[in-house]
This record gives sequence, structure tokens and C-alpha cells, in this order.
Amino acid sequence: MSSFGTVREDWKPGTLSSAQTDYEGLRVVIFGGTGGLGRAITQSLLRKGAEVTVVGRTLKDPPHPRRSFIPADLSSLNSSRQVARNLPAETFDAVLLTHGIFAGRTREVTPEGVEKDLATSAMSRWVVAKELAPRLGGGRPSRRQKPRLFVWGFPGGERALDLTDIQSSRNYRWQTAHGNTVVFNEALVHHAAARFPDINVFGMNPGIIKTNIMAGALGQATLKLRAQQTLVGVLFQSAEAYAEKVVPLLVHPALEDRSGTLFNRHAQPIDPNPWLISDDHLDHVVAAAESLSARILR
Ligand SMILES: NC(=O)c1ccc[n+]([C@@H]2O[C@H](COP(=O)([O-])OP(=O)(O)OC[C@H]3O[C@@H](n4cnc5c(N)ncnc54)[C@H](OP(=O)(O)O)[C@@H]3O)[C@@H](O)[C@H]2O)c1
Repeated sequence: MSSFGTVREDWKPGTLSSAQTDYEGLRVVIFGGTGGLGRAITQSLLRKGAEVTVVGRTLKDPPHPRRSFIPADLSSLNSSRQVARNLPAETFDAVLLTHGIFAGRTREVTPEGVEKDLATSAMSRWVVAKELAPRLGGGRPSRRQKPRLFVWGFPGGERALDLTDIQSSRNYRWQTAHGNTVVFNEALVHHAAARFPDINVFGMNPGIIKTNIMAGALGQATLKLRAQQTLVGVLFQSAEAYAEKVVPLLVHPALEDRSGTLFNRHAQPIDPNPWLISDDHLDHVVAAAESLSARILR
């Protein structure tokens, strides 16, 4: 099985006609819209006429009349929940969770006591999703489609999680620590799709794309990082090319009754992680996430 996911043969969303790509008045909030994939998607949406609220650490772009910015530290579960609480969730058509890091070579723990990659790339999303989902889109004047939640990560490949060590406290390996966030993010998609029937939830696997995501493992502004980015830039599509493929999914009518679907780097539906949906693994992963967040949230 490819780690980019196995393409589903039973369903394809099809290409959007221009009439279906009307983004005027579409209100989207993008966690992680300050960098990498989230930033490319923000720019594409702004060009198409949408209104975008960006949540992140540092906004690098000049002001735009249809973009607002909320600075936040999303490595903290309590800060993540507070930001979500303050958002006018009722007014949004879509929430995109793209923020995240790649675990460093040595294990780091946040001031709240959570392994840093798990906190930033997975648990923060878990907290934000749970906070926003019950209110999402409920106050929109014209309800075109159900509100949508898109969770970025690396879903669809075959990957197991050691439920006895979700925080990588024993034998720390950065690849395993990041792999754990992948399983938690896919679990969030399946769980939220079942738990919140009034919204549609989707998981996004972008494949490999040149961004700053490997800075955690290779070091910020190092030769190793530059070499990795150059190689990836040559071999794979750019963040901008990817954004042009996935932005139509944000409004695609064919997704309306497909909550829980996962998409690959070409915006094609892919199969779920077989480990996660077998036996009662999903229930255990959900219970682990719920118990960790309950312990941390004040
Ligand atoms: N790029 C790839 O090859 C690849 C492959 C597989 C999966 N993905 C997934 O795609 C998603 C996006 O990754 P990317 O490649 O776009 O990564 P990226 O270029 O490193 O961007 C990450 C984003 O997360 C934000 N962020 C990180 N730590 C934060 C914190 N403590 N508080 C607030 N914001 C924080 C960053 O904000 P600032 O810029 O403001 O610091 C930035 O906007 C992630 O889920 C990643 O796992 C990416």
C-alpha cells in the first residue's frame, strides 16, 4: 500500500463546472494559514473572492481586505480552545486545520506536558474541532451546503499506533512521534464525521510538498533543510499547484453526503488506514485523545 493512500475505485467527485466554483461570500477559517499549504490555500481562496480568517503565529503577507488574522500559539491546547471559542463559528462555511510541525530529533514537551508534535499537529486540532463543530455554520443567512471541516495530515496509509505510549515517552523516535499525529488526525476525521452529522468532515493527504514542515527534524535554515526542500521541489508538485487542486473540493457539491472521506494529493478519494478501522482501534484512539485533552484542559 502506498503511504500516499490507495485511490478508491467506487467513487470520484468529478470536475467542477465554472458555475459551481462561485467563492464570493464563502467564509473560511484556516488554522495554519500563515505558512506552507495553508498559506497557498489562503491565497488561492482570496484570489477567487472568498473571505478568509487566518489563525497562526506570524502573518508574512501584506494586508488584504478579505483576510483577517488571529495570532495564536496552537501548541497549547488551552490557547487553541480559547481561540476556537472566540471565533464566530456560526458564520463560517468551512474550517481548515493545516497547522502543525514535524517532531524534532530530541523529544520536546510543551509547558502543558504534552509531546510537542502530538500537541501542535494533533491534539490542538482535536480541541479546535470539538469546540467549533457544534456551532459551525449554524448562523449563516443562506445555508447552501452543510458546513465543512477539513483536517490535513497523512491519512490513508497503513500505520499502527502504540496505545501504551502515545506521547513517545519510551524509546523516542521522531518518525514514530510524527506517525502518532497522523493516526490521531485520521481518527479525528472518522470520529467527527460520526459524532457531528450536521457538518461534513474530510481528511486531506497532500503527499510530499516543499514547505517548512521538516524544519523541526532537520533544523531551521540548515543546509540539510535546504537540500531536502530543493529535492522535494524538483520531484513533487508545489504548494500552489496543490492548492489549485484542493480548493474546488471546499465547495464541491458531490462531497455533500460523503462525510468521512479522505483525499490524496490529486484530490482523489482514498481508502482509510486499515489498521485504524479494524477491530476496536478507532474507539481506543478516540478514548486516548479524549482522556489526554480532558487532563490538560482547564
Ligand atoms: N508538506 C508536506 O510534505 C506534508 C506532507 C504530509 C502532510 N503534511 C501536512 O500538511 C499540513 C500542513 O503542513 P505544511 O507542509 O504546510 O507545514 P508548514 O509549512 O510547516 O506550515 C505549518 C503551519 O503551522 C503553523 N504552526 C506551526 N506551529 C504553530 C504553533 N505553535 N502555533 C500556531 N501555528 C503554528 C505555522 O505557522 P507560522 O508559519 O506562523 O509559524 C504554519 O502556518 C500538516 O498537517 C502536515 O502534517 C504536509
